[in-house]
Amino acid sequence: MTNPQCRVLVLNSKGGSGKTTLSTNLASLLALRGSVLLADLDPQRSSVSWGNRRPASLPKIDLIDDPERDFRGYPARDYVIFDAPAGLKRGRLEDMLGEVEVLLVPIAPSPFDMDASREFLQRLDEIKRFRKGKVRMGVIANRVKARSQAERLLAQFLVDLDLPLVATLHDSQVYVRAALGGLGLADLRAPEARKELPQWARILRFVQTGELYGT
Ligand SMILES: Nc1ncnc2c1ncn2[C@@H]1O[C@H](COP(=O)(O)OP(=O)(O)OP(=O)(O)O)[C@@H](O)[C@H]1O
Ligand SMILES: [Mg+2]
Repeated sequence: MTNPQCRVLVLNSKGGSGKTTLSTNLASLLALRGSVLLADLDPQRSSVSWGNRRPASLPKIDLIDDPERDFRGYPARDYVIFDAPAGLKRGRLEDMLGEVEVLLVPIAPSPFDMDASREFLQRLDEIKRFRKGKVRMGVIANRVKARSQAERLLAQFLVDLDLPLVATLHDSQVYVRAALGGLGLADLRAPEARKELPQWARILRFVQTGELYGT
């Protein structure tokens, strides 16, 4: 087995922060660039349901839906995306951090989400592999309403915690439509979907090179 080119864990202990939205959209964009495995670690199986709705005419995404699976020795792909559940146990989290190069954390800009995420990010910092910088971590602001107070609060929250903001995804029904159709944003022709694509270009760049927009 050869090593996969790039493995990404999408994680936040807060339910509904956008992990599956981020995982499925990222999977569909990466499927235009190489082979993709989308591994659903969540017993709710939302990513797998999305993958099963995906039209056969679009680039194929392989799915794994065994949340307990040991991921050492899984089939090699150019890209592997792990969609984590909200309550990933500490031991499993440590194991998963050993399997990836990139960690993406979606955070919604609400006070409740930021509070919950702060605790989770502090716990993450206690994990050795993470502290050693072996995993590159970036935050995705999700469900942001443009120029809202919440957006400014989240920006300050990230500065305070010294965390890199990779991209800002807006609160938009195009994400819901894409989810329903087993699609990614790039598969929709709506202008609202096209408006979001520069943010996805930032995410792809960070995943592939570690570079942040504007650096
Ligand atoms: N940017 C967005 N704009 C509009 N709706 C969104 C956006 N991101 C996520 N949603 C919606 O919010 C809900 C929660 O998103 P999602 O399922 O991706 O979160 P999650 O972190 O995977 O949740 P869970 O912790 O239950 O696994 C879904 O209905 C999704 O369609
Ligand atoms: Mg989910």
